[in-house]
Amino acid sequence: MTSVAEIFKTMDYGPAPESDAEARAWLAKHDAKFGHFVNGAWTKPGATFDVIDPSTTDLLAKVTQGSGKDVDAAVAAARKAQRSWGKLSGHQRAKHLYALARMVQKHSRLFAVVESMDNGKSIRETRDLDIPLVARHFYHHAGWAQLFEQEFAGYGPVGVVGQIIPWNFPLLMLAWKVAPALAAGNTVVLKPAEFTPLSALLFAELAHEAGLPPGVLNIITGDGKTGAALVEHKDVDKIAFTGSTEVGKIIRRATAGSGKKLSLELGGKSPFIVYEDADAVVEGVVDAIWFNQGQVCCAGSRLLVQEGIHDRLIEKIRARMEKLRVGKPLDKAVDMGAIVAPEQLERITALVKQGADEGATMWQPSWSVPKKGCFYPPTLFTNVEPASTIAQVEIFGPVLVAMTFRTPEESVALANNTPYGLAASVWSENINLALDIAPKLKAGVVWINATNLFDAAAGFGGYRESGFGREGGREGIYEYCSRKSGVGSGKRTATAARARAVPSQLTTPNSQLPSVDRTPKLFIGGKQARPDSGYSRIVVNPKGQRIGEVGEGNRKDIRNAVEAAHAAAKGWSKSTGHLRAQILYYIGENLAARGDEFAARLRAQTGATAAQAKAEVEASVARLFSYAAWADKWDGAVHNVPIRGVALQMNEPIGVVAVAAPDEAPLLGFISAVAPLVATGNAVVVVPSEPHPLSATDLYTVLESSDLPAGVINIVTGAKDALAKTLAEHDDVEGIWYWGTREGVKAVELASAHNMKRTWCHAGAIEWSNVAEGEGREFLREATQVKNIWIPYGE
Ligand code: NAI
Repeated sequence: MTSVAEIFKTMDYGPAPESDAEARAWLAKHDAKFGHFVNGAWTKPGATFDVIDPSTTDLLAKVTQGSGKDVDAAVAAARKAQRSWGKLSGHQRAKHLYALARMVQKHSRLFAVVESMDNGKSIRETRDLDIPLVARHFYHHAGWAQLFEQEFAGYGPVGVVGQIIPWNFPLLMLAWKVAPALAAGNTVVLKPAEFTPLSALLFAELAHEAGLPPGVLNIITGDGKTGAALVEHKDVDKIAFTGSTEVGKIIRRATAGSGKKLSLELGGKSPFIVYEDADAVVEGVVDAIWFNQGQVCCAGSRLLVQEGIHDRLIEKIRARMEKLRVGKPLDKAVDMGAIVAPEQLERITALVKQGADEGATMWQPSWSVPKKGCFYPPTLFTNVEPASTIAQVEIFGPVLVAMTFRTPEESVALANNTPYGLAASVWSENINLALDIAPKLKAGVVWINATNLFDAAAGFGGYRESGFGREGGREGIYEYCSRKSGVGSGKRTATAARARAVPSQLTTPNSQLPSVDRTPKLFIGGKQARPDSGYSRIVVNPKGQRIGEVGEGNRKDIRNAVEAAHAAAKGWSKSTGHLRAQILYYIGENLAARGDEFAARLRAQTGATAAQAKAEVEASVARLFSYAAWADKWDGAVHNVPIRGVALQMNEPIGVVAVAAPDEAPLLGFISAVAPLVATGNAVVVVPSEPHPLSATDLYTVLESSDLPAGVINIVTGAKDALAKTLAEHDDVEGIWYWGTREGVKAVELASAHNMKRTWCHAGAIEWSNVAEGEGREFLREATQVKNIWIPYGE
């Protein structure tokens, strides 16, 4: 017999297996063969595919490959159910969500075991993290349902939502998607990942038993083809997707011009930044990259270490890696379970080989992982070039790449040296340094002296190619709402786009040209610049008579304007709300002083009556005042998250945003689009109304005399849709707002997929003079993106 003294010497852990009996009984109840869960019932299994336990590669169950017809049936069930679900009061929906939260808690161990068996992740994680967070999400959203009518007045559900989720947190991703959707009154068709469909099927069955009405939540299993059928379905109003950036781009393109609302939570290559005064970071590193075998979209997969402490830290991390335990997911004593599937294991293995081939130094612990099943050891690369494959590509496995930096400036440059922008961890004992770095990181989530913290109260989502939209928090609810009327509602008011584009070669008598030529140029970098093309376009009145000319902007002018906007955005984004307010007031004041002239110009261009023209000028001044008022009030929030800390929600500008202004209301439409962006710290490149550009060009001198820094507003006149497409394709444009035709919306949304820019596109005209429709919080929300900064706070 081993003596106690001997045990103390080795300190080996014995196995502590969790029973899989209940999970196996559930599978057996279904003969380990599943159809879809549609309209509150199981469909008959069709053509099936295998679902394996990745820790053994043994078969767990067979599930059905969803066909187009299956998707049709699920969407039809969701549509039917939405009619009554959407009409329930917030309180009634809250009771359902509360019941779902309770249901998850009551079956928490079953969920945890099924999840571990299907995904390969350790029971310790599913039991202590995934499932409690799932319950927390439903509780939190029961609250939003309860408060919906008060807190989201004027908003209603989008309708039927298609949701596609990945395999790394199968049930948690379901919760992140289903809870807000149902809270806001939508119904759902959800497709889990083909590797891990089981917990979603179990959830749907138990949700039904918990009283969720038929058709409110439908689960369709299948691979990417089933996902694509859901994305392309005509009767789906919104798509919410989490997965790879590659598929995110496919979905962006597939939904372009369809009018479907879209939120995308994509990949990342998140930095874990350690400054030389940081203390005790090794456990943080373990959580950052070996949590869930590194299969985490926000994994701290790039370790950036200040030079002076690099060697010591690497040594400590290697010592810790040597002690990590990889093994059976249902063993409560393992740190890491299995990789989700043989395909993913192959991908990791290939990328690690490539890293070594490219010259980086690879290190793995001395012990080996189990031979049977999909296991991969924790792996550390040093001597990594920032541009190398393993430093740039999302490996999605237990592989950490380490690089060094000398100064805080260098750390920021290195951290942001990625097309992604999902998360970042900052480690320092110096609060000034940490809070100086946080705003400089291009990431939707920043953790200070922590990593991989999630909560339903704090929004989660990315910047740049990590996608757009947020899950969790108030902003997560807006992703599942639409305005009952006005912008974003799809229901346009009667004012059709009266304006018609006029071909620039049109020739008309020029008797009305002023004797001294006043042909405006473009407005770039605070200066009036001649168009590169050397061409002008004629502007006519409603009778077709020539009333002026404007420059014909082209690709080169757009490039110059974007460059000028970038140069200006740096300072403008950091300027105070107070300063931005003062400048907007000043623009308003200068516009008011020239009100008669602007009114006359409107009359000449659109044929508006004197009263209409005067009203449009006055409304434009009022709108500038409104956004001046908002400039120092568009505050974030502080979220109470259930850890020793708080999450600071900061509303940050997007950066450089392009605007294709509406054709109607040439002055008010222009101001309504530009002012919220400028008020929130963005720099803009605007293509004004194509048929009526003169109100915008008249603004040059107003802007010049209002203390607006050069390059914050740039104006390029010309063929709107062609210029909008160029802007949508431009890599350095981070967002685009478009008002125009359906074809124009489609072209912009398609082109935007290239760098996943934020789009806000509208076909048809809106009533700009109506404040409820043409101004307010929705514009401000679209002009900003939320960064949540988690900081230690309290006991
Ligand atoms: P994926 O992006 O292909 O799969 C995610 C989901 O999208 C699955 O449900 C899949 O069936 C579905 N899907 C695939 N193609 C589709 C299409 N054309 N239309 C609609 N839905 C479609 O991710 P995959 O292949 O499982 O993993 C590949 C890589 O993606 C990973 O190695 C990792 O780098 C990344 N990834 C990132 C995730 C994240 O949370 N950010 C999650 C999963 C994967």
